[in-house]
Amino acid sequence: TFLGIDIGTSGVKALLIDERGKPIGEASAASVEPTRPHPGWSEQNPADWWTATLAAVDKLSAAHAGDLARVRGIGLSGHMHGAVLLGRDDEVLRPSILWNDGRSAAECLEMEAALPSLRDIAGNIAMPGFTAPKIAWVRKHEPDIYAKIAKVLLPKAYVRLLLSGEHVEDMSDAAGTLWLDVAKRDWSDALLAVTGLNRSHMPRLVEGSAPSSSLKPDLAARWGMSGNVVIAGGAGDNAASACGIGAIRPGEGFVSLGTSGVLFVSNDRFRPNTKGAVHAFCHAIPDTWHQMGVILSATDSLNWLSRITGQKQAELSAAAEAQFKGPGEEIFLPYLSGERTPHNNAKARGSFTGLSQSTEPAQLAQAVMEGVTFAMRDCQRVLSDAGTKIDRLLAVGGGSKSALWLKLLATNLDMEIALPEDGDFGGALGAARLGLCAATGANPADIMTMPPIKTVIAPDTSLSAAYSDQYQRYRALYPAIEEAIS
Ligand code: XUL
Repeated sequence: TFLGIDIGTSGVKALLIDERGKPIGEASAASVEPTRPHPGWSEQNPADWWTATLAAVDKLSAAHAGDLARVRGIGLSGHMHGAVLLGRDDEVLRPSILWNDGRSAAECLEMEAALPSLRDIAGNIAMPGFTAPKIAWVRKHEPDIYAKIAKVLLPKAYVRLLLSGEHVEDMSDAAGTLWLDVAKRDWSDALLAVTGLNRSHMPRLVEGSAPSSSLKPDLAARWGMSGNVVIAGGAGDNAASACGIGAIRPGEGFVSLGTSGVLFVSNDRFRPNTKGAVHAFCHAIPDTWHQMGVILSATDSLNWLSRITGQKQAELSAAAEAQFKGPGEEIFLPYLSGERTPHNNAKARGSFTGLSQSTEPAQLAQAVMEGVTFAMRDCQRVLSDAGTKIDRLLAVGGGSKSALWLKLLATNLDMEIALPEDGDFGGALGAARLGLCAATGANPADIMTMPPIKTVIAPDTSLSAAYSDQYQRYRALYPAIEEAIS
């Protein structure tokens, strides 16, 4: 059997699969929610990920002891970009600055000025979400901590360090640091030098489907595993989800409505488009790359509405669905945590327009779902500006439980969207599949297959024209509001 461990921002999920890749058990444990010490900041303690990892695997081992004893390979998936700063003895120097932390906007501009070829080498814009600008911020604002940095790890590499004792990272996650030459799949000395670092500060690189290290004997004993348990390189959570839903061939992709929103597509080669703030990263298997448009508040926007109205998310989306007749007057810009694609503006903020005396929470909920959908339509637009055509799209993430949200997406992206049968097709399954490949040498193309599909949602063409009009209004709002408030 093989174990996938997905380290998410809100918790850790452990999933066990058999030799044929079929899920046989899962367990999860919540993490302490990120803290927001200042507006726009977001931090978590790496120790909390480890506590949640142990809790999730302990639970799984209590329920599936026999199956766990046969684990041969482990794969890791993790939220991307977070900076774990380690000192000489691998001690954690400060809380991890996370993917949705926007504090380093000024440092991004300084980095691009210091190395004009930065975008060409990295294939990406310097965005505050990425890892390197966070270190530039620490260098400027916390020089004592910066001086002690011996290694910088991403969240799942930190968990791997505690599982195996080794500093290793996979290509897909490494691509999100802004220190990787993404075309060459190697650290870039020039990019590292911009933040005053060198290769000694970086973990060793492996492909996601290749072995990275082995499980420590004391942990193997704790979970009743015997023999050598291989740990795969693993993947950033988006590339891992792609492995879990079988999106590894060119044109295969997914739309994810999670805390963040992602439009992901696999590419046969490295295809950057920095102008549209497209992310161009390595995939988790050799010789494969991918692009993504990333928005920072997807279900998190509905979460926020739920918090301020005191109504549960499920109630809000049911109320929106019950009164739905097509676009209304209210329009929502979902930039509650700033935005990456397409605006690359950490200081962007959300807005509601078109409010009236008849606006109820149900209309606000519909506008929130539409605003997030329009943001995904923006992502599709900039991916297609880069010459990318998406041939197949699956929906994943908590928001894909809403039939209305899926209809809005299919109509606005103007393509069919397939919804997998219930089950786990997220990062944990992809991670377990990578563990299987690393331990057995299986060919990823044979393992990363598409899951059974529950339904296919088609665009509602009777609403297409109305939504194209509403999308144009939505697009016009951002520059107008930006100009008015900045
Ligand atoms: C991707 C990104 C998010 C996190 C969420 O660039 O920042 O999708 O990986 O976990």
